[in-house]
Amino acid sequence: MNFRLLNKASYDAAYSKSIAQSDDFWAEIAAYYHWETNWNSVQQCNMKTAHFSWFEGGKTNICFNAVDRHLKERSNEIAYIFEPNNPEEATTIISYQKLHDEVCRYANLLKLFNVKKGDRVCIYLPMIPELVYAVLACARIGAVHSVVFAGFSSQSLAARIQDCEAKLIITADGSFRGAKSVNLKAIADEAIQTCPSIVKSLIVRRTGEKIELGSKDIDVHDVLPKLSTNCEITWMDAEDPLFILYTSGSTGKPKGMLHTTGGYMVYTGYTFKNVFAYETGDIYWCTADIGWITGHSYIVYGPLLNGATSVLFEGTPTFPDAGRFWNVIDKHKVTQFYTAPTAIRSLAKESLEFVTKYRMDSLKVIGSVGEPINEEAWQWYNEHIGKKKCPIVDTWWQTETGGILISPLPNITELIPTYATKPLPGIQPVLLDEHKNEIEAQSGTGNLCIKRAWPSIARTIYGDHQRYIDTYFSAYPGYYFTGDGALRDENGNYRITGRVDDVIIVSGHNLGTAPIEDAINEHPLVAESAIVGFPHDIKGNALYGFVTLKNENPNEVELKKEINQYIADAIGPIAKLDKIQFTSGLPKTRSGKIMRRILRKIAEGDFSNFGDISTLLNPEIVEEIKNGKQ
Ligand code: WT7
Repeated sequence: MNFRLLNKASYDAAYSKSIAQSDDFWAEIAAYYHWETNWNSVQQCNMKTAHFSWFEGGKTNICFNAVDRHLKERSNEIAYIFEPNNPEEATTIISYQKLHDEVCRYANLLKLFNVKKGDRVCIYLPMIPELVYAVLACARIGAVHSVVFAGFSSQSLAARIQDCEAKLIITADGSFRGAKSVNLKAIADEAIQTCPSIVKSLIVRRTGEKIELGSKDIDVHDVLPKLSTNCEITWMDAEDPLFILYTSGSTGKPKGMLHTTGGYMVYTGYTFKNVFAYETGDIYWCTADIGWITGHSYIVYGPLLNGATSVLFEGTPTFPDAGRFWNVIDKHKVTQFYTAPTAIRSLAKESLEFVTKYRMDSLKVIGSVGEPINEEAWQWYNEHIGKKKCPIVDTWWQTETGGILISPLPNITELIPTYATKPLPGIQPVLLDEHKNEIEAQSGTGNLCIKRAWPSIARTIYGDHQRYIDTYFSAYPGYYFTGDGALRDENGNYRITGRVDDVIIVSGHNLGTAPIEDAINEHPLVAESAIVGFPHDIKGNALYGFVTLKNENPNEVELKKEINQYIADAIGPIAKLDKIQFTSGLPKTRSGKIMRRILRKIAEGDFSNFGDISTLLNPEIVEEIKNGKQ
């Protein structure tokens, strides 16, 4: 597809057109895809009611555009190179034809169990090709996929299934993670016990360990070989739901972000091509998990919509050693590499020998996503991985935005370390001050909002549109509020400074403080708790918990372990606390609100200026907490 922007002039022209003649701009891009029926209107968007409609009246299918559309000319081209966890296991090559055949088999499997258009299907799988097949199979028949990251606990999985009332779950016997394996089926089985909506559990074999098949369980390998490798496409309205993906929020209940078909397709295809400057013959690798939005948009849909070849990686950055990423780059001659700052920081800590063993001369573009990349990590990435010849695309976006909104374009945008730089065509970022006014000056800092809708903006929080409005469209009426703070320089480059709400990004994982506090408060000895983030060398942020107890004299060492176990059970190991401090109280306002600002400063070790604490109900507690800092 030749909507690739080739130079600064074409970016400038595209950007201007995307603002001045937005409908024409997006209509031209959408025309690169197959539409079974054309749309009537390009966009109808309302930031006040949070109603967004793109390509209304159009009928299409994203699986058709991602897979079938390429078969005529490129059926033998490679869609995925599957690189298993264990480097001694052979890689698997998946052509577009093979992808089509397997996706159809999975779609027929879903149909066999009576999955219909609009039904929700939960997918809880490791990073194996079957995960891609399952996702695309849903899209093919119009079922709504809800992929749950396979590192989530059974309670988290259950909450997500219950929220969307999934009819079916697709899971595996187990998953390989470095030298370990995890029994996914046991976790899924436990979750399903509290999920009456689930009628069948489809089990993919990966680890091959012995499993017991219960009354709802189907071993997919008993059925798949009998199913056809063809399956008719279900044509979808542009605004029909495509998937739900949960992200954490400021209450214990995760938010099911709902994305729809047409706009998401148009935007992810366009941004993949341009941000990664993907050209035929390139080998692209994104190390994220498909359980997160990065994997949905830039492992599955974006690359496939462009007929790209991607590496699909099951493993971890440090197995069998800290050179694995660099080894895989050489092994498959990767041209575009996309990873997270936390991975870069942890690998930069290892001996350079793990890096210098490899040439990595195939690389053309390297990318970063998930959290702000600090200067040191940026420089290391540039020098040792990109060899100072690969542009770094620092891509800023969110589960809610569906695709990348702010990012450099390789060899077009001037790079500035730690800056996500410029908005992509169609995106109008603004900074708002504390009076909710737009900062008009060229440079400044403020809360990052987006002024107009773009095709892949989430359409709602599944089952709770009011919460969608409250979370994103009410703090700054007329704008989409991102939850991030940002700085803009005199040339219009954006640098994301971090969250300004109660979300903490730990190792690139978006964690809400409320669900973690809820988990801790379940412990019978705990009275109350407050979680804040503090800077961490590798994880970016780590979690610090302030906990008050009902009982005065517990065994603190044991209790800390138990608290972390409660968190691991409720959410997953990623949300465990690095530090726990027991205190006799938490600083509170007269209205009973915990003053997190103070706790944040204490956790950071910054005792310099707590501001006015006289409004606190219990100002004396600040001294106690300071003295007890871990
Ligand atoms: C939050 C969204 C985007 C997919 C993965 C995370 C932070 C993301 C960057 C970046 C600075 C970033 C923001 C954002 N974030 N990318 N390049 N620079 N911060 O998706 O889990 O929905 O998290 O991640 O704080 O709001 P997510």
